[in-house]
Amino acid sequence: MPSEPLTPRPLTESEVDQVCALDEIAFVSDPYSPELNALVRETFELDRMIGSFDGAQMVACACIFSFEMAVPGGRVPMAGVSWVSVLPTHRRRGLLTGLMRRQLHGLHESGGEAVAGLTASEPPIYGRFGYGQATSGVAMTVPRHKAALRLPRGTDEVSVRMVANDESFDDRLEIYNRHVDTRPGMLVRSATWARGLAADLPESRPGSSVLRVVLAERGTKPIGYATYRTKPERLGKGTVIVQEIIADDPAGYGALLHYLFDIDLTATISIDRTVPTDSPLLHLLMNPRAAEPRLYDALYLRLVDVDRALAARTYAAPIDTVIEVVDDFCPWNAGRWRLTGDEKGAGCERTSAGADLVLGVRELGTAYLGGVTLRALANAGLVREQRGGAVAEASKAFASDVAPWLPFGF
Ligand SMILES: CC(C)(COP(=O)(O)OP(=O)(O)OC[C@H]1O[C@@H](n2cnc3c(N)ncnc32)[C@H](O)[C@@H]1OP(=O)(O)O)[C@@H](O)C(=O)NCCC(=O)NCCS
Repeated sequence: MPSEPLTPRPLTESEVDQVCALDEIAFVSDPYSPELNALVRETFELDRMIGSFDGAQMVACACIFSFEMAVPGGRVPMAGVSWVSVLPTHRRRGLLTGLMRRQLHGLHESGGEAVAGLTASEPPIYGRFGYGQATSGVAMTVPRHKAALRLPRGTDEVSVRMVANDESFDDRLEIYNRHVDTRPGMLVRSATWARGLAADLPESRPGSSVLRVVLAERGTKPIGYATYRTKPERLGKGTVIVQEIIADDPAGYGALLHYLFDIDLTATISIDRTVPTDSPLLHLLMNPRAAEPRLYDALYLRLVDVDRALAARTYAAPIDTVIEVVDDFCPWNAGRWRLTGDEKGAGCERTSAGADLVLGVRELGTAYLGGVTLRALANAGLVREQRGGAVAEASKAFASDVAPWLPFGF
């Protein structure tokens, strides 16, 4: 048993197979099929993968994916942290901490992404490293007999056509990617990632149908799509498991909902991957209570370099505020920063002026996309106001008028 945490290092090509093997053990998952293995290997960026070794054995690993994320006013590069695993024999002795330090300090030193993000297997893990929960999503289980909808005007002008999964791939990718800038938190989807999400491997559908795809069309123009599976139970009691609904406008969204919520011989519609917390669905259901909406944490964000990250988004109202940041894990962020900005742009500089607000870097990650207000965090005692009115001013400026959302994990 090593007495010191084992220092992580970059992986070589020949070590990548060990990542999947370690992941299977760490996540207590079924063995990866060769097809799944090949799909995930396509997404790996070898020069962004690290591992810790005990002799020849890989005992911890993590990787970064290079993503582009929508933020208020534009997009920022985001380091997508994933494949974080520590062998059960080597836990609770600092290996994860070593991986996190290597990633975040590495990004800072190399001038890499100013923002890192991840989805967590368990919410308590990453706060200590400065990651704050920036997006939530809503899952629902709607009994079909209580699934009546108020359909938006124009729904009947949109047709819904069933298409083959591979045949509609390009249309879906285009529709998804033109949606990215409408919501903070959405990630640009590359063809590689889209292929992985569209892959219909047997292990991703235990007991349910192949992935079904419908396109919403106005005339011949695709304006939205939905993907779903059906799960047969007793005849007439099947479930529609909805994966994605994306549409350019309310009528397209309404047409897709109308289709999904009224498929004969099904009794339940399950919104499996979540919809945004301000999804139109919540407003179109006649009986939202019957859908039993459940809130899930999704994207956790970490500001790697507070100044670059805060200057990379815009603000809904003018802001000129000195923020004192507490950050023990990435000490270059600690101290006072003057943030100035508005709807057009922003700047963030070191300052010796007195602080208006004091908060941890984790809270900045939580508030970064504008879905959780600084007011809410202040009410929880997580943001301290040093100048009267500073919370109100900053809260308004940071807020987004659409709820941030991460439609898929990574
Ligand atoms: C989660 C995991 C990576 C932690 O690795 P580890 O090397 O044991 O973590 P560390 O020893 O560096 O722990 C650092 C701190 O996090 C805490 N911690 C670790 N895992 C935790 C968990 N699951 N829940 C809450 N706290 C946790 C430790 O107690 C420790 O706290 P301390 O500094 O106050 O003592 C590891 O348990 C694992 O591989 N789990 C299964 C796969 C998984 O969930 N990966 C995360 C994917 S998002």
